[in-house]
Amino acid sequence: MGKVIAIANQKGGVGKTTTAVNLAASLAATEHPTLIIDIDPQANCTSGTGLDPRSVASSTYEVLIGDVSIDEAVRQTNVPFLDILPSHINLVGAEIEMIDVMERERILKNALIQARRKYDFVVIDCPPSLGLLTLNSLTAANSVLIPVQAEYFALEGLGQLLNTIKIVRQHLNPELEIEGVLLTMFDTRLRLSNQVAAEVRRYFGTKVFRTIVQRNVRIAEAPSFGKPVLFYDATSIGARNYIALAKEILRNNQRYLRQYDETREEASPMMNPNGKSDTFSESSTPANGFTF
Ligand SMILES: Nc1ncnc2c1ncn2[C@@H]1O[C@H](COP(=O)(O)OP(=O)(O)OP(=O)(O)O)[C@@H](O)[C@H]1O
Ligand SMILES: [Mg+2]
Repeated sequence: MGKVIAIANQKGGVGKTTTAVNLAASLAATEHPTLIIDIDPQANCTSGTGLDPRSVASSTYEVLIGDVSIDEAVRQTNVPFLDILPSHINLVGAEIEMIDVMERERILKNALIQARRKYDFVVIDCPPSLGLLTLNSLTAANSVLIPVQAEYFALEGLGQLLNTIKIVRQHLNPELEIEGVLLTMFDTRLRLSNQVAAEVRRYFGTKVFRTIVQRNVRIAEAPSFGKPVLFYDATSIGARNYIALAKEILRNNQRYLRQYDETREEASPMMNPNGKSDTFSESSTPANGFTF
């Protein structure tokens, strides 16, 4: 089964959506079939991958209320190997509608059981809250990636998030790991950015990704063209940062991917996609022409 990574931080505007879109696109660029789940009613992931949320017939909302399966709602993006379960503004009502449902925190996990077999990675873009949508994401996930903006008060509120993760581990998902803490919007010119990075590293130690995402205007421009930054300006710092993050995550997950491939081969040799390599070698050249 593909690895499910939830991108979560209840603080707004720290780079969750940017990371979900660009990490998923960078993983897809290495020919790892990847699914983005947009579980934020703002639907920024959906528009950021080129879909108009208003044109979406079935979305995460219909999946959560049990109207359709994930397979029925998933759409292909323009990026090879990248699919999306789109969001829609009507997801705003889902938290209230789900309140009376049995096992309401496990709805997404159950919906994903079949769908995640098709992918190597599933990346979930959480909303800026610790409500039922984020709880569903943390319950469905193998790990959580926490973007932290290199700004004043970077660590503020993280205690609440860590506490939520602890509670989810105790009651809903004992396997939930921290994939890593990602410094975002890092401004190399500012001493503040370096101070924040040092503070975050002091607090989280080796859990902080070596990769740092710098503040880069190409990253901010790309969503208005409905493209991940890699497909908007492949040579930009932003594209390179997210490729580096994907490489780091692939390196950290080699064992997981190997085990997954073995079980997939046992289940059906046909399902092992096109003999791709799970070791992300420096020289690998994906089908779409990008060389890393
Ligand atoms: N590395 C970066 N360089 C420049 N701009 C960035 C970078 N990362 C994110 N941004 C911009 O910062 C804003 C907030 O980013 P994003 O939407 O990814 O945050 P978020 O955590 O998903 O927000 P929300 O909590 O509202 O869902 C966006 O306008 C985005 O384009
Ligand atoms: Mg967002």
